[in-house]
Amino acid sequence: MAQKFLHSYIVCTCKNVSLAEILFAIKEKNAKNLKDIAFYTDAGSACGSCTCKENDVGEKKMDLYLSQILDKYNKK
Ligand code: FES
Repeated sequence: MAQKFLHSYIVCTCKNVSLAEILFAIKEKNAKNLKDIAFYTDAGSACGSCTCKENDVGEKKMDLYLSQILDKYNKK
């Protein structure tokens, strides 16, 4: 993630879930994978485009995916 994203950045446009909500789920709720993220925030539970590049079905590709966020925080 070379780019910096504001905490108000909407990662999941379907469910209107911000980066702050995703980070809260990871840090405070101990979300470890996409299923956990969907459980706590609903992000990724509709079209799935926000989950990863391979699942992005949108014409305009997203700048940030849930998988990238998880990868960054799951590193030990
Ligand atoms: S953009 Fe997240 S489920 Fe569609």
